Amino acid sequence: MKYLIGIDLGTSGTKTVLFDELGKAVASSTVEYPLYQPENGWAEQDPADWWNACTKTLQSVLADSKVSAKDIAGIGFSGQMHGLVMLDENGEVLRRSIIWCDGRTADECAEINKLVGVTRLVEITANAALTSFTAGNILWVRNNEPDIYKRCRYILLPKDYLRYKLTGKIGAEVADASGMNLLDINTRSWSGEVLSKLDIDPKLLPDVCESADLAGKITAEAAAATGLVEGTPVVYGAGDNAAAAVGTGVVDDGKAFITLGTSGVLYAHSNKVSIDTTGRVNSFCAAVPGANAVFGCSLAAGMSLQWLRNNFFLPEMKAAEGLGQDPYNIMTAQAERIPIGANRLIFLPYLMGERSPLLDPNARGVFFGLSAIHSKYDMLRAVLEGVVYAQRQILDVLSDMGVTFSEIYATGGGGSSPVWRQMIADVLQLPVVTIQNREGPALGAAILAGVGTGLYKSVSDACKNIIKTNPAQMPIKENSVRYKGYYELYSELYPTMKGSFSKLAGL
Ligand code: XUL
Repeated sequence: MKYLIGIDLGTSGTKTVLFDELGKAVASSTVEYPLYQPENGWAEQDPADWWNACTKTLQSVLADSKVSAKDIAGIGFSGQMHGLVMLDENGEVLRRSIIWCDGRTADECAEINKLVGVTRLVEITANAALTSFTAGNILWVRNNEPDIYKRCRYILLPKDYLRYKLTGKIGAEVADASGMNLLDINTRSWSGEVLSKLDIDPKLLPDVCESADLAGKITAEAAAATGLVEGTPVVYGAGDNAAAAVGTGVVDDGKAFITLGTSGVLYAHSNKVSIDTTGRVNSFCAAVPGANAVFGCSLAAGMSLQWLRNNFFLPEMKAAEGLGQDPYNIMTAQAERIPIGANRLIFLPYLMGERSPLLDPNARGVFFGLSAIHSKYDMLRAVLEGVVYAQRQILDVLSDMGVTFSEIYATGGGGSSPVWRQMIADVLQLPVVTIQNREGPALGAAILAGVGTGLYKSVSDACKNIIKTNPAQMPIKENSVRYKGYYELYSELYPTMKGSFSKLAGL
């Protein structure tokens, strides 16, 4: 039996899963790390924390599984997208990474629009200039930290940094590179035109390959740090959403998934490039060679729940620890006792500003309708519901674009909660399907490794053999009717507050 490893570099931690060649998880390990918020709306992480988590989790899956490292046929990655990693000429990290949920680059996005032209940028890259996309971050460093910019020799995305540490090879792949505002989505290569208009030296960017291509081999140094065998093959891997698509079998037209991790994403596979010219949703290359995807991302999905947990649910966290349970299970069970609509309380989950479909880095979280009758449990239910309303707004944009599907796969931490899944089914009015193997992005990363090393024939062939679904959780009609009024009100709130958010940011 051969084995594959998927390394999922997430925002709350890195999760490494060792799978057998049939796609069964044999061992899994997660190491968490901090998110730095030096200013309101900024978000940074330290690549040294990612590397530490990568080595620790690799050591631990090898030890726990008792699988011999020489039977690992390949390693793949799934990674949080967009984060900027800058290295100097010795391959040393120059500053903390500005990551995907950072909203500091509104001025740089305006600069990109001016230099490239709004229409031309969308024509080439399929995406509008967005805060937290990498091009804006690069310009921000150039504008604000010129000494660091001068010393920069390599620009990498987060998981590409881990691959560099493991193989010594600098590289990039199409799925993640699509989130930089620098890639020509049609040719699946860097856009000379955009780079030249932005005056970014193309030499700073590595060659870009397909996600399942072989990228390199484990070096002797990395073998010593991780317990892997020197020479073990490593593939490029994919941005987390493209990897999750593979891990849930969303690799054909008409298939879509929703993931409630730190961010919330609603993702549909598409064999052609579908673009929303106003940028409300994003179009990226998929990890399936030659294929594409269209998706919307709300920035604080699981993050909203985590924020609530850390600030209001400390006793539940302690109790969960004592019982050896996940605090989120205890919390969602409590939310289930509160009626739909949270006793007339609505939460806008804009803790980090909002991307899809609002494109507003100045937006901030709101509890609307808070009254003296409300308890923290009503707030909890409102948070869970608000996160789902945000996904429904993305679904509405995809429907406008003619991207449709008749059921949706659920993955991520939120996807494993039956309570949250029922809300998704009721608010989106779609059957929600889960996958028997719940590892989503890590499984996708391992499948890509299996394809790149020849263990599997193709991504779609591997998915057909490995991905097995559970029966769908169906929408309940009377619930959908009750959510309708709340969703309509939710959708009315942001437009009435847009100007006030902007004023607040200026105070
Ligand atoms: C996608 C996005 C997020 C991050 C989260 O565009 O920004 O989903 O990839 O990890």
